[in-house]
Amino acid sequence: MTLKKMKQDNLKEVTKDVVKSCYIHIPFCQKICTYCDFCKMYYNEKLVKSYLNELEKEVNEFYQGEMLETLYIGGGTPSSLKNDELKKLFEITNSLNLSENAEFTFECNIENINENLLKILKEGKVNRLSIGVESFNKKLLSILGRNYNFSVTKKIKLAKKYFNNINIDLIYGINGETIAMLKKDLKKFLDLDINHISIYSLILENNTVLKVKNYQEIDDDLSRDMYDLIVKTLKEHGYNHYEISNFSKDGFESRHNLTYWNNQKYYGFGLNASGYINNIRYTNTRSLTNYLKGSYKKDEEIITKKIDMENFMILGLRKIKGVEKNDFKKRYNKEIKDIFDVSKLKETEKNFYIAEDDLYISNYILKDFIE
Ligand SMILES: C[S@@+](CC[C@H](N)C(=O)[O-])C[C@H]1O[C@@H](n2cnc3c(N)ncnc32)[C@H](O)[C@@H]1O
Ligand code: SF4
Repeated sequence: MTLKKMKQDNLKEVTKDVVKSCYIHIPFCQKICTYCDFCKMYYNEKLVKSYLNELEKEVNEFYQGEMLETLYIGGGTPSSLKNDELKKLFEITNSLNLSENAEFTFECNIENINENLLKILKEGKVNRLSIGVESFNKKLLSILGRNYNFSVTKKIKLAKKYFNNINIDLIYGINGETIAMLKKDLKKFLDLDINHISIYSLILENNTVLKVKNYQEIDDDLSRDMYDLIVKTLKEHGYNHYEISNFSKDGFESRHNLTYWNNQKYYGFGLNASGYINNIRYTNTRSLTNYLKGSYKKDEEIITKKIDMENFMILGLRKIKGVEKNDFKKRYNKEIKDIFDVSKLKETEKNFYIAEDDLYISNYILKDFIE
């Protein structure tokens, strides 16, 4: 079924909320990291040109003009694009109807941060950066295939001159990393005085250099100790732990990612992007050849009321405060308790949530909510 047909098929829709968010994928990177299985490829000028032209066509074909509250350009590495390519990209985003105080996030690799890039992003109306830093430790960075020979601190200082809303990514749980190394890294991350931090335990994905080289996972107990240390340290330093892997200063939660966790609708444009529009969750093709031919969509799943309720739980329970009983009732005219077994959850008058001690193993709890 085409997306157009689905739009006509609105009657089956479970929830009628308006689309307020949009994700755009830029799959190009200057270097490929040893652990990454994201949809990405080496930067190539010709391909970027064709890609941006096709992206423009896709947006024109599907975007219905809704007022957007969040826009997120991710990758790959959007910051790998050259000046004129960024300008073309912003011509596309300027065709979207962004609300006056919309959150507009742009993913950057720390290597690309310089005054020229920051100025262009500012002109393009970006107001939030998400920067992959990952670690300060040379040995760990080299395992990740990310060797920096510049001062990360200087680059972040420069970025802060232009943007006050910045996220940085940290990877922990790299085999060979010790608690002492992580403590040092955390101190350096905290010294950057950034208002949002996302943490990822290293996952050894198939078809990555680390997997092919048979790199071993870190001991699970040590990884868990690392997670606990990060949570404790960031909380002690004034960060709110608001989602399993995300921490922010007051008022700096990622509004875009909250769209996902709140099971709201969003567009996904670009290679391998996913979206949730009307009653359909879709994922675009990962094949650049097909994408450039205009065959954008690959998988489409019709979201029934039952699936939507499950998604409400598994996405919402990623938030530390969990899911709100009233939201569920308003959306589905049912009580959570009447639909799901909530025995593994904690409960307040208004919410169900995962106990702090269980967050690290949240996947085991969340899987119970999917049939
Ligand atoms: C699209 S990248 C961020 C922007 C830019 N491409 C970069 O790497 O600096 C998204 C983030 O996902 C995380 N990530 C990707 N693959 C991962 C893996 N296998 N294990 C853990 N974290 C991963 C990294 O923290 C990375 O910064
Ligand atoms: S982690 Fe970022 S820079 Fe590295 S390959 Fe993946 S998308 Fe590209």
